[in-house]
Amino acid sequence: SERTLVLVKPDGVERGLVGEVVSRIERKGLRLAALELRVVSRDLAEQHYAEHDGKPFFGSLLDFITSGPVVALVVEGPRAIPAFRQIAGGTDPVEKATPGSVRGDLALETGSNLVHGSDSPESASREIKLWFPNL
Ligand code: GTP
Ligand code: MG
Repeated sequence: SERTLVLVKPDGVERGLVGEVVSRIERKGLRLAALELRVVSRDLAEQHYAEHDGKPFFGSLLDFITSGPVVALVVEGPRAIPAFRQIAGGTDPVEKATPGSVRGDLALETGSNLVHGSDSPESASREIKLWFPNL
């Protein structure tokens, strides 16, 4: 069993899609190990997305993720990391995310694609420590 860090981004909270995302996680058979509504500081946003520092969209990515509350979850289960990436769908909701995924079904723009999920065991470990230091 493994753990992954999931975020329902500000667009998902604003649109009332927290339940939709949590429902898909639970229906897949994954478990919630932690769940919290959080306002994201600039500092946390920069650390969370440190791998994208220097890319042209980094500034707008930080503006977006700090634009309103997010719901942060730790999700647990067999192959939880790729399982949630499948639930989320590809980064670009139109070109990459397939129908049946959260982004494929519910999002239009890469810059506001509703959810985040850790992309590797190393990322998951780093992100869970960052968001839930007491877990
Ligand atoms: P996350 O789960 O949010 O990390 O998405 P991801 O792993 O599918 O994509 P990635 O880590 O490569 O990029 C992080 C986020 O930056 C994406 O979810 C997008 O919102 C945004 N992003 C990535 N690439 C682009 C891009 O080319 N243009 C813009 N505007 N945003 C991008
Ligand atoms: Mg990513």
